[in-house]
Amino acid sequence: MIEASRAGVARSEKILDGSHIVLIGMMGSGKSSVGRVLSARLERPLFDSDEIIEERTGRTIREIWELEGEPAFRELETQTLADNLERAEPSVIATGGGVVLSERNRKLLVDSDAHVVWLMLDVELLLERVRNGAHRPLLDDDPETRLRRIFEEREPLYREMADAMVSVDNRSVLDVAKAVLRCCG
Ligand code: S3P
Repeated sequence: MIEASRAGVARSEKILDGSHIVLIGMMGSGKSSVGRVLSARLERPLFDSDEIIEERTGRTIREIWELEGEPAFRELETQTLADNLERAEPSVIATGGGVVLSERNRKLLVDSDAHVVWLMLDVELLLERVRNGAHRPLLDDDPETRLRRIFEEREPLYREMADAMVSVDNRSVLDVAKAVLRCCG
């Protein structure tokens, strides 16, 4: 993995080659907002996993979670990731925070030539950001403890999957998007 400040030529070639940019990271790290800016700047389509799942099913994430359970949601998430990575047109892909949990998803990411960028945010700042997220049933009970546990569990997986890491702490969405572009070339 490279840090944002250590942008390399190879990364730029990878983007020019037409690899997807895949944003990974915790709930509240700004994947969707940063994805929108990247999509506009690069003139590429944005595929936002949670949005696609909601469109496909006609249900909100919360409804899927409550009516069908987390495993059904995770299955939809895997299918959506596979579909997104398969597209030939270079795109920006905003994943859900839990995408790295499944071995299948991790293999899909590793096997693709997508450029995977981890948006990293301090857990205290994350807590402030996620308090009102209706689409985050994982944080319904005792969000602080849950979030800290989830962060500890996933941090090594994000690290393992990421080609590059961009710190989100105290940066505007635009600055984060610019950092992603710098680290990608
Ligand atoms: C989840 C993150 C959410 C959403 C669902 C599960 C997770 O997406 O997919 O609530 O397991 O971290 P965001 O990362 O966009 O909040």
